[in-house]
Amino acid sequence: MRHLIDIMDLTTDEIQQLVDVANDIIADPDKYAEKCRRKKLATLFFEPSTRTRLSFEAAMYELGGNVLGFSEAQSSSASKGESVADTIKTVGAYADIIAMRHPKEGAPMVASLRSDVPVINAGDGGHNHPTQTLTDLLTINRVKGHFDDLTIGFCGDLKFGRTVHSLMNAMSRYEGIKFVLISPEELKIPEYLRYNLLEGHDIDYEETTDLEAAMPQLDILYMTRVQRERFFNEQDYIRLKDSYILTPDKLENAPEDMAILHPLPRVNEISVSVDSDPRAKYFDQVKNGKFIRMALILKLLEVE
Ligand code: NCD
Repeated sequence: MRHLIDIMDLTTDEIQQLVDVANDIIADPDKYAEKCRRKKLATLFFEPSTRTRLSFEAAMYELGGNVLGFSEAQSSSASKGESVADTIKTVGAYADIIAMRHPKEGAPMVASLRSDVPVINAGDGGHNHPTQTLTDLLTINRVKGHFDDLTIGFCGDLKFGRTVHSLMNAMSRYEGIKFVLISPEELKIPEYLRYNLLEGHDIDYEETTDLEAAMPQLDILYMTRVQRERFFNEQDYIRLKDSYILTPDKLENAPEDMAILHPLPRVNEISVSVDSDPRAKYFDQVKNGKFIRMALILKLLEVE
């Protein structure tokens, strides 16, 4: 039985297969409409979500399956003090596959050790978010056609942004990758990633606070929200929240074919006037999220 806890649980070949299946679903969704008949997905969300939870649910419905679950910890027995391990055992008695989001780093991993059915990490604290990464990869595949030889700018909250951590891990396995890490001093990537990933694998990267200066070299600009819920005090959040606001004038020196990605939700960091720029791909990401999750569910349930 396979789980998806970390994007590195999947080989690059498996990622390519998921992307290929997702592209096939986009081309011919009817072919997949009955694939998960009588199967059930449970969504256990101990933290807020719009896209991740609803795209998982839509994905399962479009495969002909059903969905159960909860969308806040308060409405589950976690609020009575039940452990994650007991919750997962219970849910495994009712569902064939589980997508779980939790504020504690590592909670989905712990859950997977006790689970009788596949567990998917739908975001664990400031740590990882592998299915957002699959969404990002499908979007990159559809926009760029390849994963090699890309310079990717990550901008915003690189410290707490779990989507950044997972995507950096995923991209580090391709050839000719360069990362440009754009953040305020206090929101730089965590040291464990710097040492284990960037230095450990000799990845080409630079760090800067200057978004506009970085722009001309980027193939992809990955914007992120400052993660308010991970801050220890509100003053720091208020001081840092508007560090970067992408507006049309800041895109003047950006390449014509640069893709602007954002996992969403956006707060202030991309002006709505950027939405009509052909380079803005964040609402395509939203759509792709459902298709790649359909491919992932098929894989983990071992449906042909
Ligand atoms: C992201 C998350 O939950 O980490 N959202 C998402 O799943 N698309 C990004 C964020 O909350 O900023």
